[in-house]
Amino acid sequence: MRITMIGTGYVGLVSGACFSDFGHEVVCVDKDASKIEALERNVMPIYEPGLDALVASNVKAGRLSFTTDLAAGVAGADAVFIAVGTPSRRGDGHADLSYVFGAVHEVVAALTGPAVIVTKSTVPVGTGDEVERIVAEVGPEKGIKVASNPEFLREGAAIDDFKRPDRVVCGVEDDFAREVLAQIYRPLSLNQSAPVLFTRRRTAEIIKYAANAFLATKITFINEIADLCEVAGADVQEVARGIGLDNRIGRKFLHAGPGYGGSCFPKDTLALLKTAQDYESPLRIVEAVVTANDQRKRAMGRKVIKAAGGDVKGKTIGILGLTFKPNTDDMRDSPAIAIIQTLQDAGAVVRAYDPEGREQAEKVLNNVDYVDGPYEAAEGAAALVIVTEWDAFRALDLGRIKSLLTDPLLVDLRNVYPPVEAEKAGLRYVGIGK
Ligand code: UGA
Repeated sequence: MRITMIGTGYVGLVSGACFSDFGHEVVCVDKDASKIEALERNVMPIYEPGLDALVASNVKAGRLSFTTDLAAGVAGADAVFIAVGTPSRRGDGHADLSYVFGAVHEVVAALTGPAVIVTKSTVPVGTGDEVERIVAEVGPEKGIKVASNPEFLREGAAIDDFKRPDRVVCGVEDDFAREVLAQIYRPLSLNQSAPVLFTRRRTAEIIKYAANAFLATKITFINEIADLCEVAGADVQEVARGIGLDNRIGRKFLHAGPGYGGSCFPKDTLALLKTAQDYESPLRIVEAVVTANDQRKRAMGRKVIKAAGGDVKGKTIGILGLTFKPNTDDMRDSPAIAIIQTLQDAGAVVRAYDPEGREQAEKVLNNVDYVDGPYEAAEGAAALVIVTEWDAFRALDLGRIKSLLTDPLLVDLRNVYPPVEAEKAGLRYVGIGK
């Protein structure tokens, strides 16, 4: 199959590279010339483990190429995937679809024969119908069909998630789109590595938001149970294991922490709420999740202040991890932002280390003293706070950390260390839900 990917963000670039690795011929299109030029030199615009090697090998094999020229990129395509951003619209939280519709306009105008336009970007229910209207307006005679194929990959594990997904969802309204998508995902169904689920288009659109909202709910649920554990004298990690071993609940996404962040859960839960309001079909559980998660991030800053004796004015606080989760440089809606701002508002001096996130962090945080390692972050600090559970923080020499801190306090917002281990090293330990 010949595939065009519009947008070389996380989803577009990973999907394009993986499709080419399946053996399809893929052209990735992006308006950003500097991005395309960098990709041609095998410089990735994002940090994602394994992506550069995957891109390099498929470019070498002649199956993957990059261009800024959309018309050339879509020429002869069987399917054109739209993988441009759908950020929260300023002011009201709706998904901003202007990039999607803009891209669709250009694609329809440029296509010369039958093809399927597939939305891979996360788009609200009914977007496919809008895309169809654009097709009817700009190129009704071209035999273009419209499908939805939401993506479920996670940052940091994106390639594996794409190649070994739990499922693939394809929302189609006609046989042509169904056949093209079946061919594209044939490598996955051939080795039976994932069920390919065909639904109506609106159903596929809802599946994506429902999945993200459910996962966000699971996290928020265990976070609130963690708060209860703290005051009631229980251990949330054991509670999570105790409930997660029930297959109906499942063990994943029950790690209590400082609240979910990233480019997806915060934006998608909000957009889903707006859709629900528009349809006058309220989602009260999701409303509660969004509010609880927002409040939690600053509450984590206050938790650190409380652990440090209630006053951090003039004190240095060391922060380990800034990105919203490990193995990414993504700072979008990272809990670290609210935590650091709360500490700074209380007069603390913040010193921070993140293995990959510094460059992005510098764009969103002010007055942070960035250092080059975990021990430098602890030096002379009144507390060391683990905000993101990078592997590099899992085997710290806690004795050394203790000797570097002015007050021997470890606040572990990801429950990386068992309290006894920290206490053995002479540290006072404050975790989550313990
Ligand atoms: C999420 C979904 O997991 C993907 O399936 C989806 O495709 C993607 O959004 C998207 O819509 O594009 P992602 O945002 O990359 O993926 O990251 P996750 O691994 O899901 O983590 C999200 C946040 O939840 C992070 O801040 C993480 O620290 C937090 N989290 C996750 C917890 O606090 N506890 C957990 O048990 C799991």
